[in-house]
Amino acid sequence: MKPVKVGLLGLGTVGCGTINVLVRNAEEISRRAGRDIQIITASARDIIRARQCDTGAMKLSADPFEVVNDPNVEIVLELIGGYEPARELVLQAIANGKHVITANKALIALHGNEIFKHAQQNGVMVAFEAAVAGGIPIIKAIREGLAGNTLQWLAGIINGTGNFILTEMRDKGRDFDEVLAEAQSLGYAEADPTFDVEGVDAAHKLTIMASIAFGIPLQFDKVYTEGITHITQDDIVYADELGYRIKHLGIARRTSLGIELRVHPTLIPRRRLIANVNGVMNAVLVKGDAVGPTLYYGAGAGADPTASAVVADLVDVVRVLTSDPENRVPHLAFQANAITDLPILPMEAVKTAYYLRLRAEDRPGVLADITRILGDSGISIEAIIQKEPADGATDVPIIFLTHKIFEKNMNEAIEQIEQLPGITAKVTRIRVETLK
Ligand code: HSE
Repeated sequence: MKPVKVGLLGLGTVGCGTINVLVRNAEEISRRAGRDIQIITASARDIIRARQCDTGAMKLSADPFEVVNDPNVEIVLELIGGYEPARELVLQAIANGKHVITANKALIALHGNEIFKHAQQNGVMVAFEAAVAGGIPIIKAIREGLAGNTLQWLAGIINGTGNFILTEMRDKGRDFDEVLAEAQSLGYAEADPTFDVEGVDAAHKLTIMASIAFGIPLQFDKVYTEGITHITQDDIVYADELGYRIKHLGIARRTSLGIELRVHPTLIPRRRLIANVNGVMNAVLVKGDAVGPTLYYGAGAGADPTASAVVADLVDVVRVLTSDPENRVPHLAFQANAITDLPILPMEAVKTAYYLRLRAEDRPGVLADITRILGDSGISIEAIIQKEPADGATDVPIIFLTHKIFEKNMNEAIEQIEQLPGITAKVTRIRVETLK
């Protein structure tokens, strides 16, 4: 059988990684796919630049539209990232009847509903395994491996840069900015690193996982998103003293009232496996009613791991081309006419436990005022630690762990606490999840 002809958009880290994996594993890949796979054309902004991959056998172009309009191309790999022109290129490829494979989480999270609608109308596949958690086959696991379950919740460390920063801060006491610069130099960080540290990248990935877990439309704009920039060395140490690690989690949970979609730093018990996922590694914990908790761990970024996911999608698409085009796995796991618009809960309606760090004057009555406000707001305290004042300081750090309470009650309590005369700084609040 003739090789399948592929057009590649983007010769960056992931594009070159994909070329290298396709060459290195050509025999194993075609044994699986049933046909050889050949990248016949590729586009990049600068086609002259020296690269870490061999593009000698490909027609190169600086114009990506040449690739998506090439009549010989059957499958387009979109590996340029960003919203535009990626969206326009993908829609053009679909309109031309080509299957698309993308690693672009931002594109799928924001424009996936539109893209999948066009893909369905044109009878083509759009695959996106590499968009979430790099090399971990989490899309396939949720969409196919767990298809017998009612999925209850998932929680993931899905941004390697953020996890690397928190790990280095904890293990080596390193400074936030210095670690971020290292993540950028290692090629893990997004083009705009605020996407990593402010939680946007994780929110993109959470949007995608929640959609395929619960059969809901992609709704990036409804994700509560909080980054890690306000986490201090002190918080990491105090959390440790209480038996917790701080991880930046994306959490999606089905409740009787609707779906929780939230990205924020989270204290999780140190003994959980996922609490010990360090450095740039990613992990996703998925809880199904039948299977119970399942954990997926691996490299969430980098050339070869991301290429591993891109090539797995290529094999899937090629298998469909060669065998049974009628029986495809739906783009969002559930049949297109069975996607349900369950309500997404506002953050104020989410119930969780909290770590609070306050700075308070060390005099009689201050603690009593704080606990009165917490009590009046229905917030039950699980633990309190008062630390020594720093050298020369007249105020002291006080740390509270609370039981679960609605975010709305906690917002109101924090607002009142910050107005107390004995409180000398804004309250730091980090949510706590036991992930049982
Ligand atoms: N910037 C992302 C991360 C890359 O750090 O995880 C993979 O999506």
